Amino acid sequence: MSAILPPSDRLWYKEPIDRVEGTWIVLSLIWCMVLFFMMVGWHIWGDQNLSTETYRTTPDKFMAKAQAVVDKYTVRTETDQNVPVVAPPPGSDVYMLGRLWSFWPILELEKGQSYRLHLTAMDYNHGFSLQPANINVQMVPGFEHVLTVTPNQSGTYSVVCNEYCGINHHTMVGRIYVK
Ligand code: CUA
Repeated sequence: MSAILPPSDRLWYKEPIDRVEGTWIVLSLIWCMVLFFMMVGWHIWGDQNLSTETYRTTPDKFMAKAQAVVDKYTVRTETDQNVPVVAPPPGSDVYMLGRLWSFWPILELEKGQSYRLHLTAMDYNHGFSLQPANINVQMVPGFEHVLTVTPNQSGTYSVVCNEYCGINHHTMVGRIYVK
């Protein structure tokens, strides 16, 4: 028997299905349906499933909104590139963008407070991987992802790019402080 040669019995599909194969198909189908409905279920029962909203945007439009928040709520700058550290009031919209090869700005949030976090990529696909919480969102150019976040632990969080985006992908890191 070979996959290259035609089957010896040309009407092979008229053979009755084997019990084992039938059982396998039924089990696979049931498992498919379980996994399918889990995708919906995790939005209700999962602690970390992100029910994101996504809107179309452009780098200019996004930058204008992000810049306005940075201008208004910057509390200091950090690192040798003078990245602004922005501490917007609880409940407000906060912005973070990814571009070759950095995240901007640094956010300073308050524990137990909710924020609307807007994400986009300015040039190519980037990843927003929040560590150590291990939350992953794709940053896609032309799209604005909005997530409602409520930090429940204070500390320093790293944002790591987890979509390969070129020669300095491994240096693309950002930061979020939770007080
Ligand atoms: Cu940005 Cu990898």
